[in-house]
Amino acid sequence: NIVSISAIEVLDSRGNPTVEACVVLNDGTSGRAIVPSGASTGNREAVELRDGDLGRYQGRGVLKAVANINDLIAPVLIGRPADEQRRLDHLMCELDGTDNKSRLGANAILAVSMALTRAAASHYRQPLYRYLGGSNAHLLPVPCLNVINGGQHASNNLDFQEFKIVPHHAPSFAEAIRMGEETFHALKTLLAERGLGTGIGDEGGFAPALKSNEQAVELILDAIEAAGYRPGEDISLALDPATSEMAEGDGYRFSRSDNVLRTADEMTDLWQSWLDRYPIILLEDPLGEDDWAGWETLTRRLAGRVELVGDDLLCTNPELLQRAIDQGVANSVLIKPNQIGTVTETLECVTLANRHGYGCYLSHRSGESEDTFIADLAVAIGCGHMKTGSGCRSERVAKFNQLLRIENELGYQARFAGRDAFRTRRA
Ligand code: PGA
Ligand code: ZN
Repeated sequence: NIVSISAIEVLDSRGNPTVEACVVLNDGTSGRAIVPSGASTGNREAVELRDGDLGRYQGRGVLKAVANINDLIAPVLIGRPADEQRRLDHLMCELDGTDNKSRLGANAILAVSMALTRAAASHYRQPLYRYLGGSNAHLLPVPCLNVINGGQHASNNLDFQEFKIVPHHAPSFAEAIRMGEETFHALKTLLAERGLGTGIGDEGGFAPALKSNEQAVELILDAIEAAGYRPGEDISLALDPATSEMAEGDGYRFSRSDNVLRTADEMTDLWQSWLDRYPIILLEDPLGEDDWAGWETLTRRLAGRVELVGDDLLCTNPELLQRAIDQGVANSVLIKPNQIGTVTETLECVTLANRHGYGCYLSHRSGESEDTFIADLAVAIGCGHMKTGSGCRSERVAKFNQLLRIENELGYQARFAGRDAFRTRRA
């Protein structure tokens, strides 16, 4: 049973405060977790509680969320068994009482929820991925490395937020990581040779000033070849343009590059032309979070050629995902535990997606930490593909390292998901 729950304010990878919770059980085992934080957040995400006290951390302190754990959540959960995850998560939601976790803060609730999972896993002396996923958890995800950063994650002239490489043609996760890292380093050499910047953005990808969004794709294709791989065969591309950030009225303004305002139809034409030209297998948020009509048309036109992932659109929210299923929108959902705020609801979203043939694409946030919970979660749910940043920065590669450990521990039982993990064919 739980004997104590406590929290403190710690830092994320951008140097902003975030919440760390610790759960201790009466057998002496414990679990600790740190929550991440997004920059290009969806409007319907659960609320991250910030103090708003401009005298501390520019208003970004999380002492209220910390106090909510120590003073409000702890008294309700202490004495209960840590392995009743659903019940404990439900109790926290009830205590919060709002539908977006704005009273206690999703950062407070999720920190405890994840720490509870870890404590229960350690009580049963099981690795986290096995405790969460059972004895059949064995599928290692394809890592999608965000090698060029733009949009809200960099101060360059790229409208689109994430340009990713997808090393899917590999016998193992370890070999996929090697392919990804070799390409990442080839890209650095190539940028330097062409007189372009090699400084990095929030997720560890390069953030050069380029002529156009297309140039970012072309540089990456050159880097794949320079590293000795075949674009499309060995390594494909994935994009998260995060278009909610570009929404203006009914259209999308490319304010960083050509400053043109495009309609949803013009955006869909643009994606179609990119799919014709480039080996792209996954498109996330190709249209904005309020553009359900545009998404319907886009899904009809492009599903079957490319995985269409809803991030800001769906916010890891089972109700929004159900709406997408009913309306034939997207064919995959981004899974970010802090968008919904408990481990239980995250797993509910995964279950719903699985039941309807939607993909689950697991994700970090742009503000991360050394916490590797999502690495274990990827194997537990067998989602087959995930994004956790570029090829550098310890808060990003910490997840790779944890997956390398898991693959090694599973030994011959481990299987690498490969290209089949992507929803690129019609069902
Ligand atoms: P965020 O970006 O963590 O800043 O929201 C990630 C994403 O848009 O997928
Ligand atoms: Zn996104």
